[in-house]
Amino acid sequence: MIASWFLRSAIVFGLIGMSLGIFMAASHDHTLSPVHAHINLIGWVGLFLAGMFYKTHPSAVGKLATVHFFVAIIGLIIIAPGIAGAILALPWGAPVAGIGSIITLIAFILFAIGVFRHSGKITATA
Ligand code: HEM
Repeated sequence: MIASWFLRSAIVFGLIGMSLGIFMAASHDHTLSPVHAHINLIGWVGLFLAGMFYKTHPSAVGKLATVHFFVAIIGLIIIAPGIAGAILALPWGAPVAGIGSIITLIAFILFAIGVFRHSGKITATA
């Protein structure tokens, strides 16, 4: 279940990130390209990789994985506008990006605990 949430959220963030990329290309305005990059890499790539890990390592699915999911989503939802605000030199931008980055790091540490605990275990076949 939690693996599917990761995979589906990754697709949603991929759609948002790629749409922003197309918008930037079409408008010839690449100002927000770091926002695009972070949505695609943390959102699409990172969440999808985590989803694949939880799919193939069912023993890692549990409370820690669920907390990882929510912390990761909250972190990304905060860091993305924070980076945009920082680029646009808005006063709240850098602090919000900083808070989002710390939450994103916490999410990754939770993932790291799961990977270190369970990556050596027998994996699922599908
Ligand atoms: C529809 C798909 C995509 C489009 C149209 C697109 C478009 C763009 C554009 C226009 C730029 C700015 C280039 C520049 O200023 O030199 C850019 C930068 C970038 N994109 Fe994409 N992109 C797409 C998908 C992706 C994906 C899937 C990823 C990562 C998984 C990605 C990662 C990046 C990175 C890392 C940068 C550089 C950001 C920076 O230098 O601050 N892009 N993209």
